[in-house]
Amino acid sequence: MAEVLVANRSQTRTEGKINFYGVHHLALNTDDMKMTVDFYVDVLGMRLVHAMKVPPGLGTGPGNRGNPPFEEIRHYFFDMGRDGLLAFFEVPKGAKEKGDRNALGAMQHVSFAVSPESQARIRARLDANRIPYDGPLEILPGIFSIYVFDPNDIRLEFSCQPSNGEGEPLIVPQVTQTKAEAMRELRSLTDDEQWLAWATRGLRE
Ligand SMILES: [Fe+2]
Repeated sequence: MAEVLVANRSQTRTEGKINFYGVHHLALNTDDMKMTVDFYVDVLGMRLVHAMKVPPGLGTGPGNRGNPPFEEIRHYFFDMGRDGLLAFFEVPKGAKEKGDRNALGAMQHVSFAVSPESQARIRARLDANRIPYDGPLEILPGIFSIYVFDPNDIRLEFSCQPSNGEGEPLIVPQVTQTKAEAMRELRSLTDDEQWLAWATRGLRE
């Protein structure tokens, strides 16, 4: 895999710009969809936008494309803002062991962008439901987060930038470093100057 990537690098470096429009959907697993809907809709105030079952033939057998290997399981979607969907599969109870969020390839946590007032409302809702959380903590300059575990033991974070007021926070500009700032860390990775120049070509001087 790595060899293929290196072999094609000169070609990919000359092709057109790729546009990323944020997360289309983030897919997670639960073994209790009702409990999950209760938490995301009732506690957090997210909107359920689509409820379905995975069509037959995609769970087991050759139709599977990496989705959970169970037939016709529930697959629900929530609006997580910025035109992105939070999705859950419902795997049969007892069919899968609990995951290790610190394992390689696992999702450690996900942070949702919120306004300061919304973060305060989420804290009030968590308090009202006696759900413990950490924070707010300043996790990067000007960015304040709270951390909570959902009922599936998925680690969630809610981040706000008070400097942006109640509007949508401008996240990337807030954390984007200069070349020199990034280089201070990147030089611990390699001393290949050509690689370093490529890796930081999207940063200002
Ligand atoms: Fe985080």
